[in-house]
Amino acid sequence: MASNSGQRFDKLTAPSSIEGLSRREFLGKTTQFAAGAIAAGMLTSCAPSTTLKAGRPAAVATKAGVIGANDRINIAIIGVRGRGMNQAEGFARIPNVKIKTLCDIDANLFAERVKKIDGIQHFAPATEKDLRRVFEDKDIDAVTVALPNHWHALAMIWACQAGKHVFVEKPCSHNIREGRRMVEAASRYGRIVQCGFQNRSLNNVQQAIKFLHDGGIGEVYMARGLCFKARDPIGKVPDGIGTGPEYKYFVWNNPGVNYDADYMGRVDYDMWLGPAPKRPFNYNRFHYNWHWNWDYGNGDIGNQGPHQFDIARWGLNKNEHPVKVSSLGGYFGPESDQQTPNTQLATFEYADGKIMQFDVRGIYTNDEAAIFDAIKKSETVAADPNAAPKIVEELTKRQDGITVGNLFYGTKGWMYLNDTVWKTYFGRKNEPGPCSEALEESANPNDPVGSGSQGHFVNFIAALRSGKKEDLNCPIEAGFMSTTLPHLANISYRLGRTIVFDGKNEKFVADNQADKMLTRDYRRPYAVPDRV
Ligand SMILES: NC(=O)c1ccc[n+]([C@@H]2O[C@H](COP(=O)([O-])OP(=O)(O)OC[C@H]3O[C@@H](n4cnc5c(N)ncnc54)[C@H](O)[C@@H]3O)[C@@H](O)[C@H]2O)c1
Repeated sequence: MASNSGQRFDKLTAPSSIEGLSRREFLGKTTQFAAGAIAAGMLTSCAPSTTLKAGRPAAVATKAGVIGANDRINIAIIGVRGRGMNQAEGFARIPNVKIKTLCDIDANLFAERVKKIDGIQHFAPATEKDLRRVFEDKDIDAVTVALPNHWHALAMIWACQAGKHVFVEKPCSHNIREGRRMVEAASRYGRIVQCGFQNRSLNNVQQAIKFLHDGGIGEVYMARGLCFKARDPIGKVPDGIGTGPEYKYFVWNNPGVNYDADYMGRVDYDMWLGPAPKRPFNYNRFHYNWHWNWDYGNGDIGNQGPHQFDIARWGLNKNEHPVKVSSLGGYFGPESDQQTPNTQLATFEYADGKIMQFDVRGIYTNDEAAIFDAIKKSETVAADPNAAPKIVEELTKRQDGITVGNLFYGTKGWMYLNDTVWKTYFGRKNEPGPCSEALEESANPNDPVGSGSQGHFVNFIAALRSGKKEDLNCPIEAGFMSTTLPHLANISYRLGRTIVFDGKNEKFVADNQADKMLTRDYRRPYAVPDRV
């Protein structure tokens, strides 16, 4: 979707069902598939670690450890401006789940959001500015982390240490090393941690991946991820707070807020900075626009990109890191505070030679792979030559190319995956093969195959009730593996050269300069610990 659409989801659409299967049959099949896939090692899944090593702190015993099938689950949402409200609304709709607390350093957001959630669950959540107080609340079973990327790891690790289960947004971390620490924390404290790659819970995407893993297009040797998402330039603004028009914050998802002394009096900006270096306030480094500054964000390759990286890695069936990565690009457009590129190409080579490509285009661009309608057009015209001009005109308007999505290439054919619609083509003539046919949208908030992110929220709650992290569609281990890909691309981009990665040890090969970029300098006391 276009960046200025006002919608809060990263790109995805309603999942489709497979024609000819009833809903019940379909659910049964996808469940069997998921179980089979985990057994076959197709989905990333690690055995639960309940053993705590001697000498290290034990997990705090809270209600979170013993959630019964019928117990009410209390959740706190941490970061409630944008994505956090999607989470709050989604979880509040699930029966027997209550949003107990909304937490944000920006208290200006609270009144409207409390009212909204109260309207859904008929209980007004408490509000809290300091996330550490949330972790101290023994009644809270799980927290969601919808914070800027530089806060994800620390918030998640603190939550695990306090005995909470966690739903952490993508990208799961701001850098590679802290992502590994997150995996260790989930394991060490025996917590259930879902990463916010919601495509994993869309049945149509699951079907597409199963088709690939079953050899549907032959041996998949290359995956491509596209992030063609035009973004408005953020311009340049002065540091500080003020009342003039130059201080009026305006981004695509906000109609304009003046960050004056009154507004900022209700904001804990030092806590917003957290692990990042202390700097004066600047609205281009605050709500949402932080994505384009390296101290807090990872550019669009690390924003929308991780969703398509996750699908690309899943489709390629790679549960290992690539060995060689190369990325280039730049920021093109008017003078701007943006540090991250708005145009970025990246290639990844795996040990067996398989390839992943990623393409970010943040300005205006064509779409890609619009072959489906070209075939349909010629077939329709052939069937009814008299209707040709009108049909050609109509179908030309409806060119069905990808702007944000994936392409997979195999030895027999290729797959198109655009939102949750997938199609396959075979041979020299691009003969259409199996594809998704029908869209399926679920209005039931407790349905694990619901549209958008709802199924992913429901899946998290189901895993809390079963107590088994194997029931998660995207455990932190999988989230970490996929998140590592944009981080590797950014390291190559920032160094301006190809990097060689030793995935087993998660270090670069004889490359101290690149190794330094595996982590960051943390501002105390907001340091991600070396040992969790
Ligand atoms: N899965 C998806 O489809 C999806 C969609 C959008 C965003 N996201 C992810 O969600 C995260 C949040 O994105 P957003 O667009 O909502 O960002 P945002 O900047 O609009 O909102 C982040 C909120 O976190 C608050 N915050 C910052 N530091 C805090 C702290 N220490 N304690 C409490 N609150 C704090 C901010 O005040 C702000 O209200 C990002 O990591 C993004 O990648 C995921």
